[in-house]
Amino acid sequence: MRCVSYFSGMPGNSIGQSLVLTTYGESHGTQIGGILDGMPAGISVDLSAIQRALDRRKPGQSALTTARKEEDLVEFHSGIFEGKTTGTPIAFSIKNKDQRSQDYGELATVYRPSHADYVYDAKYGHRDYRGGGRSSARETACRVVGGALAALVIPEVRITAWTSSVGPIILSEDWQNLDLSAVDAHPTRCPHPEKAAEMAAYIEQVRDQKDSTGGVVSLVATGLEAGWGEPVFDKLQADLAKAVMSINAVKGFEIGSGFAGTQLLGSQHNDSIEKDFTTTTNHAGGVVGGLSNGAPLELRVAFKPVATIGKEQNTVDADGNRVVLEAKGRHDPCVVPRAVPIVEAMVQLVLADHYLRNKKYKA
Ligand SMILES: Cc1cc2nc3c(=O)[nH]c(=O)nc-3n(C[C@H](O)[C@H](O)[C@H](O)COP(=O)(O)O)c2cc1C
Repeated sequence: MRCVSYFSGMPGNSIGQSLVLTTYGESHGTQIGGILDGMPAGISVDLSAIQRALDRRKPGQSALTTARKEEDLVEFHSGIFEGKTTGTPIAFSIKNKDQRSQDYGELATVYRPSHADYVYDAKYGHRDYRGGGRSSARETACRVVGGALAALVIPEVRITAWTSSVGPIILSEDWQNLDLSAVDAHPTRCPHPEKAAEMAAYIEQVRDQKDSTGGVVSLVATGLEAGWGEPVFDKLQADLAKAVMSINAVKGFEIGSGFAGTQLLGSQHNDSIEKDFTTTTNHAGGVVGGLSNGAPLELRVAFKPVATIGKEQNTVDADGNRVVLEAKGRHDPCVVPRAVPIVEAMVQLVLADHYLRNKKYKA
């Protein structure tokens, strides 16, 4: 049933309170970009480091990702002068170059199952269907730029994400037993060489079958002090959940023991507190009562198998006529490796935002 509210606007393009990232742009428009407002003045910015962060997300990095080739060169327009932030809004843009909009002509009227085509039409009545328009994960490039800048606000915090599962291939080792400096050593971004090879083989298999697969990104952040967050609606875990759940194709968020914690007794689950206020275990995942407790922040993010696949699928067009769709265009058979820097970016933004909010309340 269509709930047509044609001529609706599309607000909700910003995240954060003290550090606010706003993004704009569509997949096949001339450019995408953003404004990061609230960066303190005087922070040194190494522009090449921001570009390196962006390069980790870009398409065409390996045979495991989409063949779309984008240079993804970020240009800064304001807020940085002589290598340092000025405290004014930082505006940036990234040109779209390798559009092949003709591949998407069919999607003007045919709705891809489990993609945003139908709901955009139902809500807005008019949409840029090329490459998924605003619903495309191309937008997430702006999040990575924002996150890399946000990370400069909290240099003492070390945030690392990695691929911990792809389809049925699961890496269950604790992060303490992994070499997290090796995340980028393999195109899957799994820091365990044997599991990484299994994951790559599985992604290649589903790609050859014109299908897609999902997986999980795990993340750990160390170096947080106790007390970041707010105790009620803006709990740290609530803001983290919103931030990562806003990434395209995310279907689940867990912190600490997550759903598995329901299987433990309270006596097993409680994190005992030591004399120095550290805890012996970390079922909390670094947050209690909405506030960081100084333990590592540990979270996991579930990505679905992406919608656009070359296999035949039954769907309908805008008039409700049955259509068999074999999607053209270039698509990631598994977005998880490219999602690793995006998850990091969202956590960088949330932690920097709460750090700045927390600072304000200090006498
Ligand atoms: C890095 C990345 C790349 C993506 N690439 C594709 C893609 O090639 N094809 C596709 O159908 N979805 C892709 N997606 C997911 C869609 O953008 C997303 O599923 C769609 O907008 C519908 O939203 P939802 O899945 O969050 O409900 C990608 C997601 C990410 C994070």
